[in-house]
Amino acid sequence: MDSSLNKAVEQFTGILVSQLARAEAMEADKGFADYSAMDKLIIGICGGDGIGPIITSQSERVLRKLLAEDTAAGRVEFRGIDSLTIENRAREGKAIPARTLAKLKECHVILKGPTTTPREGDPWPNIESANVAMRKELDLFANVRPVKVPPQGIDWVFFRENTEGAYAAGSLGVNVGNALAVDFTIATHPGCERIIRLAFEHARKTGRKRVSVVTKANVIKATDGKFLTIAREMAKEYPEIEMDDWYVDIFAAKLIDEKRRRDFSVVVLPNLYGDIITDEAAEFQGGVGTAGSANIGRKYAMFEAIHGSAPRMVEEGRAQYADPCSMLRASVLLLDHIGRAEQARRLEKALDFCMFEEKKLVITGRDTGCTCARFADYVVSAL
Ligand code: IPM
Ligand code: MG
Repeated sequence: MDSSLNKAVEQFTGILVSQLARAEAMEADKGFADYSAMDKLIIGICGGDGIGPIITSQSERVLRKLLAEDTAAGRVEFRGIDSLTIENRAREGKAIPARTLAKLKECHVILKGPTTTPREGDPWPNIESANVAMRKELDLFANVRPVKVPPQGIDWVFFRENTEGAYAAGSLGVNVGNALAVDFTIATHPGCERIIRLAFEHARKTGRKRVSVVTKANVIKATDGKFLTIAREMAKEYPEIEMDDWYVDIFAAKLIDEKRRRDFSVVVLPNLYGDIITDEAAEFQGGVGTAGSANIGRKYAMFEAIHGSAPRMVEEGRAQYADPCSMLRASVLLLDHIGRAEQARRLEKALDFCMFEEKKLVITGRDTGCTCARFADYVVSAL
């Protein structure tokens, strides 16, 4: 074997060994953190970079307002973490610098602004995405992304697997000389089980009647095949819920079909399909700038926009026109997650009112619409 082939095989072995260890650790870890048992809940506010700090600061302001009583009583503490910028990450050559990671781990839940993800050819070193690294480091395995457009009867909740699939070893692909590049996609049994379980449990708890499983199991046979097989088996434990399965291509098409798309409710899918489909889904609601997501793990949870840091908006001097709704929707999910349902409903209703009902102000991402801060004022006035 020539040396590049040897190196590739070695790297592949390393991935297999570490993924098996991860699967084992997952089997051992089953419970969820109980926030109600904690004397003080620490909420980290991490602005990120690009438009991140602008939209995150508006959400922080709203959260502080809604949680003022809890904060005054010492039940909730806000902690700013402003070091997760692309400049710092590039300087340290790390997706998340060690000191920042330690600070993040001192928080129970985190509100995180978008962070720039470099790729080959960018002015930054091609380090791993901070989102992806945080999801892995804190084992935030469920990416829950609701999308709703009440006037069109759209009310979807996506459960995107968040630590496996094409992302698990996304930065560990191998090049064999110049001729061949190979990436890996990964599915572990406990990894599939825990996300599919969460989707079914959510459907059961919220009285939703359908769980759609989206894969490409006819082509990606090992990993997607495993995902689908586990879902089919688990569906038997939920006889009141109908499970259907879709290939991701036709599912993407059916989301556009006005007559069919209303029938979807809970959707569970591997990482990369979840990434793509949730951007498409958010477009019906007003674009990715309007959609928030919860990244849930057994110990930690992180709440963020579904979009990136929009460096182009910053370069073109339009950052102040960024849509705060993605982070405000993420804040609704955060409030629900920490057991503040009443505050969550207040914020959700105010957002629905401003985005779908009164629509007195609109955000266009440029000076044809209102600024991020003005729109946040509008939401605050509707609380
Ligand atoms: C998302 C984003 C991230 C992802 C990027 C920024 C790495 O697109 O949260 O959907 O691909 O998961
Ligand atoms: Mg995405």
